[in-house]
Amino acid sequence: MTQPTERVFSGIQPTGDIHIGNYLGAIKKWVEISERYDSIFCIVDDHAITVDYNPAKLPRMVFEAALTGMACGLDPQKCTLFVQSHVPEHVELTWLFNTVTPLGSLFRMTQFKEKSRNALYKAIAKKEGEAQSSALYQIKSLGDATVKQLTALQPDLTALEPEGQPDEALIARINDGLGGLMQKLQVGLGVSEASAALFDYPVLQAADILLYKATLVPVGEDQEQHLELCREVAERFNRKFGDVFPQVHRIPGEAPRILGLDGKQKMSKSLDNHIGVLDEPKVIQKKLASAFTDPQRIRRSDPGRPEICNIFSLHRYFTTEGKREELEQGCRAGTIGCFDCKKELAGNIITAFEPIRNRADTFRQNPQLVIDALEAGRARSSEIASQTIGEVHQLLGLGRRALGQMQK
Ligand code: TYM
Repeated sequence: MTQPTERVFSGIQPTGDIHIGNYLGAIKKWVEISERYDSIFCIVDDHAITVDYNPAKLPRMVFEAALTGMACGLDPQKCTLFVQSHVPEHVELTWLFNTVTPLGSLFRMTQFKEKSRNALYKAIAKKEGEAQSSALYQIKSLGDATVKQLTALQPDLTALEPEGQPDEALIARINDGLGGLMQKLQVGLGVSEASAALFDYPVLQAADILLYKATLVPVGEDQEQHLELCREVAERFNRKFGDVFPQVHRIPGEAPRILGLDGKQKMSKSLDNHIGVLDEPKVIQKKLASAFTDPQRIRRSDPGRPEICNIFSLHRYFTTEGKREELEQGCRAGTIGCFDCKKELAGNIITAFEPIRNRADTFRQNPQLVIDALEAGRARSSEIASQTIGEVHQLLGLGRRALGQMQK
């Protein structure tokens, strides 16, 4: 076997059932890649607490995530599997990275905007009567104020001539005006309800990866923007303090983005639109039975459009090519109904995940196997993490050793 020269790092949040999006977007690749590279996989519980959660349930969720990962094929003999909060250096490096991370880059993060907006909706939904109307009134006022400010900016925007000589005073005025507007809008759109930790989520993710100087990160397409931030943090750190951190690259999984059973949003643990890899056969059948298909297909004889049907797109990962062609033709001709198409898919998903369900049962009967794997993973990760923190402390003038080497 050739000696692996690059290191792999990836993580998953213990926020609910691991689903087929996680599996096809990431974990299946983790299993494959750990045969070839030094691979470190992490249950990111510090990330999971950036949104509302139940502390009493968290340890069980961490355990379930580790058990499911092992059932999917993560072998502690071939990779390092551990829990983020067991290695406190992750949080420490996050703080140090905060010093080189531009606020502007964090404000651009799509996931933050989505999650903070959800936090706002939830907060408003929880309010009642007058409190709710007052929150909605505040949002409306913000909208009105934004329109007013934009109107005030209009003459400057009109005077701007992109082709002509830059008028620096004008550009500065527009920048100031738009900057202020953006900030107000972001606050209004929910940022004020979100935690500072949610805002910092991508910096913790950069710390996760760079603590181990990993270069390869197998994650779904939705994480590309977070990896861009990770690259930016590494570059800024290196420029300021010395060449410590490598460039990271995303390794795509088998599926870039699996849609949820609602056919609209990304499959997600929190949206209740998923099929869990450990779901029982009956549950899979039931969930698929009510899943969204082509809305124009009302009767079985209506010709369907497989290209816009999420059920058909899922067949790609579970059904043979020959059978897919048969389903596609039958759907277009209106001879195979959604019921039969879903039944075929349910059968294939159940068969595909049967070995995973069986391995999960074995681990459930021997939970110590999971606990021992996590402990071995912690020991190994800690060793690498403390070396990196030592190196970073030295460069930043922090820590006991730096004090010992103080210049006169
Ligand atoms: P999490 O738990 O949200 O997702 C875990 C992995 O599953 C992928 N994924 C999907 N892929 C395709 N289709 C979907 N519907 C779908 N839903 C989720 C995600 O892209 C991810 O690869 N922020 C990370 C956790 C993390 C991390 C890290 C990852 C924390 N630190 C360091 C890599 C490196 C996340 O999205 O977790």
